[in-house]
Parts: sequence; structure tokens; C-alpha cells
Amino acid sequence: MNPAYEKLVNCYESIREKIPMIPKVALVLGSGLGDYANDIKVVSTLPYQEIENFPVSTVPGHKGQFIFGYVDEVPVVCMQGRVHFYEGYPITDVVLPIRLMKLMGAKILFLTNASGGINLSFKAGDFMLLTDHISTFAPNPLIGENIDKLGTRFPDMSHVYDERLNGVIRDVARENAIDLKEGVYAQLTGPSFESPAEIRMLSKLGIDAVGMSTVVEAIAANHMGMRICAISCVCNLAAGLSKNPLTHEEVQEAANAAAPKFKKLLTESIKRFA
Ligand code: HPA
Repeated sequence: MNPAYEKLVNCYESIREKIPMIPKVALVLGSGLGDYANDIKVVSTLPYQEIENFPVSTVPGHKGQFIFGYVDEVPVVCMQGRVHFYEGYPITDVVLPIRLMKLMGAKILFLTNASGGINLSFKAGDFMLLTDHISTFAPNPLIGENIDKLGTRFPDMSHVYDERLNGVIRDVARENAIDLKEGVYAQLTGPSFESPAEIRMLSKLGIDAVGMSTVVEAIAANHMGMRICAISCVCNLAAGLSKNPLTHEEVQEAANAAAPKFKKLLTESIKRFA
């Protein structure tokens, strides 16, 4: 058996023994957004360390556990802390949790992240709905023998971010007077932030916001036929666009400040993802 698939199946079996719940929506909480978990009616939590061979997140602000529960009436599984490529895990491990949540039953994947804004009309604290992405700067998680049980060798990427889900999110933002930008997100590997020259390059490529996650997860989820949506919290202006040096603390503070509106956007959207 393909080693990545074998590991996935082992993780799945170890979770299924503990958690009978079948989630509908899988939610990934980005930097500074982990306390959204407080808004979930929690049924059970499962620290990543308790899942055999599961990659454990080491980033400050990322707790490292699955939360199973309900947003309103909707059964969800939520990752409080994701796994990043820059932590040193193979790319198949980075997307393992996403594949796992699909095996658990989730049909919809709601990704969130913190990013640096490149589009000059963005400011810190803005939210950006992803309409598309650029994956060129991160390794493709589907490289290697294809796992036919999950999806096809050459998946189409024309409509990764589901137009119907995006429509719901737009409606919720409008009704709650939340300013929602839209654009193209690029994942770079990190962990260093980008240089000003790199940001000028990304800007010329039509990229609106940059971060260190999400795209590889979306590729793996799209491979499995999940419906995907993603919102980025623009936590800072990207390198060279403001005088301040970038710090992880600044990113976390901006995400914390934006959290109340972000929670509203998540909760109200998930309720309507019927
Ligand atoms: N660059 C990359 N990742 C980020 C940034 C950034 O400026 N801000 C938050 N995550």
C-alpha cells in the first residue's frame, strides 16, 4: 500500500475508535484564530499527540487538537492548529489532517489563515475571500504515486473555491456590514517572511495576499472532491509596503483584534452551508 495512504488509514482507524461523530464541515483555524473553538458546542477534543504518527504542530498560537462539535446544528470537525510545511514535515504529512477529515465524513472544507496583504487597497485587519490561488512556490502534495482511492492522477483545478459557498459568505458579510475583499492567495514555504523584492514579484503576478499555508490543503481537498472555501485575515502589509519590520506577534495581535468579526462570518456562513 502507498505509505502515505497507509498512514492515513491508520490515523483514521485510531480516531474512529474514539470519535463516532460524522462531521459535515471541516474547519481549519489559522494563526490567532484558534479561539473560535470557544464558539463551538464541543462534543469532544482530541489532541494531535494522541493520534499515532500524526504530525504535531509546533507554532506558537497553534494549539494542536481536533475539536468535534456543533456550530448551531451543523456537525463540524475543527483543527485548532494546522501543520505547516516549514515545520519540516513531508508535504504528504502536511495534508494528512485534511484527508483525515474527509475520511471522517466532512464534505465541505472551510480554510482560514493569516496573510500579508499585497494588494494596495488592503489594510491590516481586512478579510479576503479566496477566489483562486497560486501554488507554484510550494511543493504539490499530490506528487508521488497517486492514491487512486482518494482521487484522480490529474485533477482539474478550474474551480477549487466553490462559487456557491463563496456566495453564502458574501451574503453573510454584506448583511453584517463586514468589509470582505476578494482575491488570489499565494502560499510560499516560509518560515522567513518574504523580502520586499519577492513581494514586488508576487504583486506583478497578480497575487493579492501571501501566506505559508492553505494552498496545499486546498489541492489535497480538491483532489478528493471536497467543496472548499477559504478566508484570509490580512494581518499586516507585506514586506516593503510598510516601514515596520514583520513579526509573528504582530500577525497574532492583528488576528486577535479581527477575531470577533471573523467568528461572526464563520458561524453565520457555516449555518447556511446546508
Ligand atoms: N507573509 C507570509 N505569511 C504571513 C504574512 C506575511 O506577510 N503575514 C501573516 N502570514
